[in-house]
Amino acid sequence: MTGPTADRIVTPRIQRLKVVPPQVKPPDLGPERPVRSLHLNESPFAPAPSVVAAMQRAAAELNRYPDHDGNDLVSALSARSGIPAERIVIGAGTNELLYASADIALDPGDEAIAPDPGFPTYAKTITLRGGAYVGVPVRADGVVDIPAMLKAVTPRTRLIFVATPHNPTGGMLSQADVELLIRELPDHVLLHFDEAYYEFGRHAGAPEALPILAQRQGPWIATRSFSKAFGLAGVRVGYGLCNSRELADAYRKIRVNFSVNAVALAGARAALDATDHMNALLDHTAKERQRLAQALAGIGFEPLPSAANFLTVKTPKSAPAIAEALAAENIFVLPFPWPGTPGALRITIGSSADTDAVVAAIPRVLKAL
Ligand SMILES: Cc1ncc(COP(=O)(O)O)c(C=O)c1O
Repeated sequence: MTGPTADRIVTPRIQRLKVVPPQVKPPDLGPERPVRSLHLNESPFAPAPSVVAAMQRAAAELNRYPDHDGNDLVSALSARSGIPAERIVIGAGTNELLYASADIALDPGDEAIAPDPGFPTYAKTITLRGGAYVGVPVRADGVVDIPAMLKAVTPRTRLIFVATPHNPTGGMLSQADVELLIRELPDHVLLHFDEAYYEFGRHAGAPEALPILAQRQGPWIATRSFSKAFGLAGVRVGYGLCNSRELADAYRKIRVNFSVNAVALAGARAALDATDHMNALLDHTAKERQRLAQALAGIGFEPLPSAANFLTVKTPKSAPAIAEALAAENIFVLPFPWPGTPGALRITIGSSADTDAVVAAIPRVLKAL
């Protein structure tokens, strides 16, 4: 399609969106200069052998469509969470469920609230559905500011995204924060409670939010991901626990047919049983996060408390310049603005060798700036 033709057919709200493809990995330059991919919050561990084997078995039957409802996976999730299967939905990554929440709740012009900075899909999906995005700054310690978000609610608000641990800061909500949210959020708002980093949060001592969410009369969905602690970012699968069958049915109605593929379903089901593998990752992540925080604090960076598989630090010099210099050394991290500072860097916790490489490169890079 040529430019002018596209201009006539593409709606103004889509034209206003920027094309932001997910970051692409640079080519591997061999063992001498390994690529250190610390900008996407992936697991540094390959999936457990049992998970790879389950996916290989599924690959042998890829002439067939997958089980659209993911019944095996959903019953296993139901047994583990205590939420009835009829209230559990799946998606091609939790990303699909974030889009669905905006589809379900928003008519053009409706308001939707999200933490700022926050996972970019929140703002994107709100805009895409014609909603009015209301960004609420996170607290100085990087935790989602529940009182401020509640203050932003109006009679036009239909949707609120809340994440814990939060991305890009790693901050986790306290039990009192979640209780306040559930007590005060009006019932006319869909609460999308984003727990993409749930397993890391629990390992770091975060409260279990589900029993608190269960006290809410209004609609809510808590979403969790197989991309992070389960180490399956490459196959795209996540799930949502809903407050009612009626709400879960709304997600089912709009889901793209067969959006979660058969390899993803098999891998996710097997990953639920690979608990030793996940526990090793959780222990490793906590240890390396602590080591990285200590090393960077010692050279003028200010780490935010993190309960996720990444560490965010306020930088003493320009964060984009540091990120660019690190990228020249094949180390990829995410810079973003932080009020009152030269910026912040979000650094995924990778292997121990990744931590060593970051700790060695940053002083060198700082000196050169
Ligand atoms: C806060 C948050 N929510 C949701 C997602 C989406 O994860 P996925 O679609 O891979 O499940 C991410 C991914 O980085 C995230 O950081």
